[in-house]
Amino acid sequence: MTEQSRAPRLRGGPRAALVFAAAGLLAAGAAVTMATSASAGTTLGASAAEKGRYFGTAVAANKLSDSTYAGILQREFNMCTPENEMKIDATEPNQNQFSFGNADAIVSRCTANGARMRGHTLAWHSQQPGWMQNMSGTALRNAMINHINGVMAHYKGKIYAWDVVNEAFQDGGSGARRDSNLQRTGNDWIEVAFRTARAADPAAKLCYNDYNTDGQNAKSNAVYAMVQDFKSRGVPIDCVGFQGHFNSNSPVTSDIQANLQRFANLGVDVQFTETDIEGSGTAQADNYQRVVQACMNVSRCTGITVWGIRDSDSWRSGGTPLLFDSSGNKKPAYTAVLNTLNGGSPTTPPTNNPPTTNPPTNPPTNPPTNPPTNPPTNPPGQGGCSASVSLQTWTGGFVATVRVTAGSSSVNGWSVGMTLPSGARIVNVWNASQSATSGSVQFSNVSYNGQIAAGQSTEFGFQADGNASTMTPTCSAR
Ligand code: G3I
Repeated sequence: MTEQSRAPRLRGGPRAALVFAAAGLLAAGAAVTMATSASAGTTLGASAAEKGRYFGTAVAANKLSDSTYAGILQREFNMCTPENEMKIDATEPNQNQFSFGNADAIVSRCTANGARMRGHTLAWHSQQPGWMQNMSGTALRNAMINHINGVMAHYKGKIYAWDVVNEAFQDGGSGARRDSNLQRTGNDWIEVAFRTARAADPAAKLCYNDYNTDGQNAKSNAVYAMVQDFKSRGVPIDCVGFQGHFNSNSPVTSDIQANLQRFANLGVDVQFTETDIEGSGTAQADNYQRVVQACMNVSRCTGITVWGIRDSDSWRSGGTPLLFDSSGNKKPAYTAVLNTLNGGSPTTPPTNNPPTTNPPTNPPTNPPTNPPTNPPTNPPGQGGCSASVSLQTWTGGFVATVRVTAGSSSVNGWSVGMTLPSGARIVNVWNASQSATSGSVQFSNVSYNGQIAAGQSTEFGFQADGNASTMTPTCSAR
């Protein structure tokens, strides 16, 4: 279902029940009018939904028993992100022993409220359990893959979007990846995480999430380049999360809308995922207005999540950065957000949503954009092609990345033959179609990557259950 096709959501609870009961006494047309007008513009979630978006909050499991907190949660928000309960230390405290109690409590409450879930987060340098902090190399890589598979299997079908990888880039002007034990397993750890996630729950949107990337700067440029690269190579990524933590050291800048838009232009959804803005009164309200307006002005900005409900719930409560005061009263910032949602433009239907396969929306990396000015020395395909395979393996599974390279002339189509290891079974393929899931398999180009210029390459890949062993690909060209 696209964001736009989803009908505006009425909140649950006694008031909604009353609306429905009253509406039931009326003719169908009148009932719709009444239900719509009863919710229009009065809560954050309903107002966002009317524009095809969501409005969410971080949720802490230990606050669900607080009636003020629970009441605002139910009334105002139609998306929930567990603040800490889906992080690695919470969900896998001992290796391969998963623990979902607190996260399940949030999923259960939010789902009962009629809200959807963002999952946060599967691969992160921080909040790793002790056993993972002490790991490195292949063991850590395999543990990361196992963690993603374990958590996503538990929540399969229940999560709208996962923050698959969180905060992988350095602050400052370097544009480099952040050093971490995960980064030291190899630069491809992020794409392995995304490919694993796609196979684990093909219906979930897969997001990269970071902070200090809200405006255009060296860090957001680096994330942009990564997303561009992923889209061009068919690495599955559907969305980019901009955390939106603002204060006087990290102010709301005038280029946040342009920044959202340039990412959206790469073919991903964009979202504010952890918004909080320190301050008070009109100044704070103005800043919230600017952030929400930026999202409303970008058709692929699918929603906004604030990082907590009341100021007292915030991870930086001293900055009073949220929409409700510590007693649960609406602040001026709340009113500014609600008015901006009500005045905003709707989303347009996303072009690649929901993601069940991994076709890049951008052209392949090496398509010939124009016919060659000189005829090739060989007709297309006569120069042949070659293929090489690289493997990421773990106990019981592997990801194979296959590079197809055209020979001395361009190719108009290719087919790669591989014999899978005994017992191996393909569970997901990207950038190719396949003839079988086990044994002798032929992989053929898809519509967008059949043409390869002489000497150039394209890549496809697959994930399989079973243990890897050496595979020798053969390539034939048209
Ligand atoms: O639950 C324990 C409690 O039992 C103990 O007494 C207390 C003592 O310090 O700690 C409590 O745990 C704290 C936990 O929040 C729950 O309140 C941790 O120490 C504390 O480190 C943890 O902070 C969280 C922080 O991530 C950790 O990195 C914040 O709640 C959470 O809001 C924050 O969220 C992050 C996002 O995941 C990623 N982006 C930045 C954002 C803000 O830092």
